[in-house]
Amino acid sequence: MAWASSLPKKNEDYVTKEYWDERYAKENDDGAFDWFKSYADIADLIREYVPDKASRILMLGCGNSKLSEEMYDDGYKNIVNVDYSGVVIGQMKKKHEESRPEMEWFEMDIQELSFGDESFDVAIDKGTMDAFLSAKGDVWNPPEEAVQSCTREVDEVLRVLKRSTGVFLYLTFAQPHFRKRFLIRPNTTLTIRELGEMFHYYLYILKV
Ligand SMILES: C[S@@+](CC[C@H](N)C(=O)[O-])C[C@H]1O[C@@H](n2cnc3c(N)ncnc32)[C@H](O)[C@@H]1O
Repeated sequence: MAWASSLPKKNEDYVTKEYWDERYAKENDDGAFDWFKSYADIADLIREYVPDKASRILMLGCGNSKLSEEMYDDGYKNIVNVDYSGVVIGQMKKKHEESRPEMEWFEMDIQELSFGDESFDVAIDKGTMDAFLSAKGDVWNPPEEAVQSCTREVDEVLRVLKRSTGVFLYLTFAQPHFRKRFLIRPNTTLTIRELGEMFHYYLYILKV
């Protein structure tokens, strides 16, 4: 299996930009890998929480997932993709610039977004915050650096989302007791939906 050679030597490698750059460099330009779920699995939920196809959507840590292109082909044209791996952003820009010209791609750290306040309707994280929490240590009591990274990501998401209408969708394998601490914020409402049958995934919906 091609993806097996991309597995890190240790879990905490998922936290480093070098690991992601190397992994994407090894995959060819057409490489595509979706963590957890594909658009087909979650399309009904996306359409429920993002009913307006003209919404300006921020994709946090897009990687080489097909989620953005499949959302685009479903009518969500206004998607801005960011990832701190310049390698994957270069590959994705090249792959989509002609066929999906309205979609944008930026090399950027999600802990320090270069977008203005209240400039997005929706932000989506599929498995990206999870990368921060792959560091060694007690899952019940993650290392301070990981806690700070998650906190900074959510601070930035809340800053760039429009007040009163903004929605943050976070899809993960992690159960509520491991993630709620980062997502419970003043003046927001958090809803959690459980997906899947044998193995469960969770969609956290944070409304601003
Ligand atoms: C587990 S993958 C998920 C990729 C994609 N969202 C998906 O669903 O398949 C995590 C992605 O987040 C990116 N990433 C990790 N930390 C980041 C950070 N601080 N800023 C931006 N991107 C980051 C990695 O480069 C990688 O592409």
